Formats: sequence, structure tokens, C-alpha cells
Amino acid sequence: MKQGEKIVFLVITIVVIGFMGRNLWRLNTIQEVDKGIPYYSTAPATLERAAMDVYREQNCKSCHSLWTVRDLMKAVPAPILDGIGSLRSEEWFYQYFSATNPQAILPSRLKKEYQMRSYAHLPESERRLLARYMASLKVQDWYLEETRKAEREVLTGQEYRP
Ligand code: HEC
Repeated sequence: MKQGEKIVFLVITIVVIGFMGRNLWRLNTIQEVDKGIPYYSTAPATLERAAMDVYREQNCKSCHSLWTVRDLMKAVPAPILDGIGSLRSEEWFYQYFSATNPQAILPSRLKKEYQMRSYAHLPESERRLLARYMASLKVQDWYLEETRKAEREVLTGQEYRP
């Protein structure tokens, strides 16, 4: 190799290593900022499967969003169910699903057709399944306040300040 070629080769090598190093450094800083998805479920797979069967049969996704799945053709402003189990208890969900008039428990600001339905007609086992699964839908502590705020704002239609 001539002297000139060596220098060019050296410069290219330095530039390439420099870029790689910079990208690696960026990757590390991005990972520090992005804390990931805050929602998770504590439900065992069997419970999740059984509850999601009921959820699908009852077409809850026509109004609610869960695990980013919802009916895109409808725009009912119902609370997002991700993390809902960090806001309310299993017993509360059971009472709510069993109520003949859910709006007596949770008042609605919506027209009747968009309001939460009564599931009192479902077998007790299915209401229990749904309640247990809803209670398992948790949110990481660092996103709890955001989740509560979003839920309050959907329910009241007003900005929520704790
Ligand atoms: C017709 C639309 C609709 C359907 C279908 C529906 N919901 Fe709802 N749901 C709502 C609305 C709207 C609310 C908020 C209260 C209200 O306005 O009645 C709500 C409230 C809730 C809440 C309480 C949320 C909170 O903030 O604590 C839970 C839990 C829930 N629904 C679960 C379900 C499940 C599970 C199903 C299916 C079995 C279902 N919903 C089906 C519209 C619906």
C-alpha cells in the first residue's frame, strides 16, 4: 500500500468507528428515556383466555380499548381498560357487572346507547371471570396518575386536576 492509500484507509476506519460509537451511545440514551409499555396483567394464561372469550362474545371492544384493540368504526368515549385494575377492586367490578343499572354505581354523561351495559343477565361465573380479569389489568406506578387522569376525563368530560 502506498502512503496516501494508508492515510485514506485510516481516515475511513476512524469515521466508521466514530459513527458506530455514536449510534451505540444514542441507543443507550434512548433506552434510558423510554420506560416501555406501562400496562401488564397479573392473570394466569388460563384466566386470561377464558375472560377474553367472554369479552369477545359480549363485544366489549365495540366501546372499550384494551391492549390497543378497539372497534375503529365506533368512537364511544368509554374508559380505556388498560390499567383499570390499579384504579378499582375485583369486588367493585363484580358489583358493577352485576348491577341492573350500572349508572347508579358510575354515573354517565353519555346518551343511553353509548352508556355501559348491564351484564346482570350473564351467568355468575362469567361476571366473576370478567371481574377477576379486570382486576388483573395493572399499570406501573410511574404511569398510575396519567391513567387515573385519563379515566376521570373520559368519565366526566372535563379536565381532571388531582
Ligand atoms: C355500549 C358501549 C359499551 C359496551 C358494549 C361496554 N361498555 Fe363498559 N363502559 C362504557 C361506558 C361509556 C363506560 C363509562 C360509564 C358510562 O358512561 O356508563 C363504561 C364503563 C366500564 C367500566 C368501568 C370503567 C371505570 O372507569 O372504572 C368497566 C370496567 C367496563 N366498562 C367494562 C366493560 C366490559 C368488560 C364490557 C363487556 C362485557 C363492557 N364494558 C361493554 C361503555 C360500554
